[in-house]
Amino acid sequence: MSSELSPIDKAKFLAAKRATDFVEDGMRVGLGTGSTAAWMVRLLGERVRDEGLKISGVPTSARTAQLAQEVGIKVITLDEAKWLDLTIDGADEVDGDLNLIKGGGGALLQEKIVATASDRMIVIADAAKEVEALGAFPLPIEVIPFGWQTSQALVEEMLISMDVLGRDTTLRMNGDAPYVTDEGNHILDLHLNRIGNARELALVMNQIPGVVENGLFIDICDTLVIGHGSGRVETRD
Ligand code: 5RP
Repeated sequence: MSSELSPIDKAKFLAAKRATDFVEDGMRVGLGTGSTAAWMVRLLGERVRDEGLKISGVPTSARTAQLAQEVGIKVITLDEAKWLDLTIDGADEVDGDLNLIKGGGGALLQEKIVATASDRMIVIADAAKEVEALGAFPLPIEVIPFGWQTSQALVEEMLISMDVLGRDTTLRMNGDAPYVTDEGNHILDLHLNRIGNARELALVMNQIPGVVENGLFIDICDTLVIGHGSGRVETRD
């Protein structure tokens, strides 16, 4: 299968495949969102079908819920699961301390709730996602639609007061209309270039009225599985 893929898709596929080795019978598994996570969901579906693997999956988006059902994974809600053994998800950036930027696919809110309610979070990514410092990828901030422009102004003021260099913020669009998340919210993308203190920024952003969640995942990822187009796969804890 992986020989027919482009190098980037091969890297994503291989990382996803390695991560599915951590899934055992009876586990409650958080199912991430995005193209890498979609490989993982399909591969778990194959194990359900071919090996009779028995798992319950908690999807992190409507997209993932649909895919999981299509491939035969039993889907339950987080409230039904209460706690998860493992969550496997992708990332937009990961640094050397396994801190992440997530939310490029717009699912950061459910992704953070699900990952935080798990004994272990495994992040699967192609090697291009590894960075020395977070921030080249725009940081997603989920805001409620009511007064979103006020929230945006407050975010920008906060960035100035924190002396953050890049302060350009844009409303994520879906064609001509604002992008709407599964929870009915909008997303501001912060073009920061480089985030000096990701821990502080993550805490401060969530204090701003109208902000629901931000895409910085600090101290949440336990294990990183990186796939390379060459076929190499690395695992880091
Ligand atoms: C979705 C996410 C994804 O995990 C992230 O965008 C990576 O996506 P992909 O695997 O397609 O590169 O955070 O909200």
